[in-house]
Amino acid sequence: MTIAQQALTVHINGQNVTLDVPEGLMMIDFLHEYLNLTGSRFGCGQGVCRACTVILDNTDGTSEEIRSCITGAHFFNGKKIRTIEGHGKKNDKGEVVAVSPIQQKFLEHYSFQCGYCTPGFVNAATVLIEKLQREPVAKEQVEETITHALDSHLCRCTGYVRYFEAVKDVILTTPGLIK
Ligand code: FES
Ligand code: FES
Repeated sequence: MTIAQQALTVHINGQNVTLDVPEGLMMIDFLHEYLNLTGSRFGCGQGVCRACTVILDNTDGTSEEIRSCITGAHFFNGKKIRTIEGHGKKNDKGEVVAVSPIQQKFLEHYSFQCGYCTPGFVNAATVLIEKLQREPVAKEQVEETITHALDSHLCRCTGYVRYFEAVKDVILTTPGLIK
């Protein structure tokens, strides 16, 4: 049996990628098997845990989370996304020389243990921070806002408190996120 191939062009972490891939291929398999971007984690594979979350950058300047385990690769044709590999600053050799502010706070707060869920949490927190840059919240709404943003992400190890505290730290120490 021959599986039909279809061209796919996606802008990933600042670079355009064009390949012929099988119709019906899931995005997480495209990332893992075709691009060797294995940082997006395959957890439940059913859209529940969100370890596989990537960031979709919309043309209106907003960003949103998408679960790559239940979203076909061709959904992203012509679109722009970021994966966990796109967050750190890299030098000319492609080596990571600095992590993002969210990643830094997760490290400082010891937010994760095994780290399997961490790419999803980094992407969720990044989408939240970008939303707050556009629409700051009142200080008394910060905790509720974080809970709402992270609530769907599952972690088997940490009990969530340290992720929560790290994101709160970022929000309280980054100018412009609170009105
Ligand atoms: S692996 Fe995608 S939601 Fe769990
Ligand atoms: S740190 Fe292990 S699943 Fe979250």
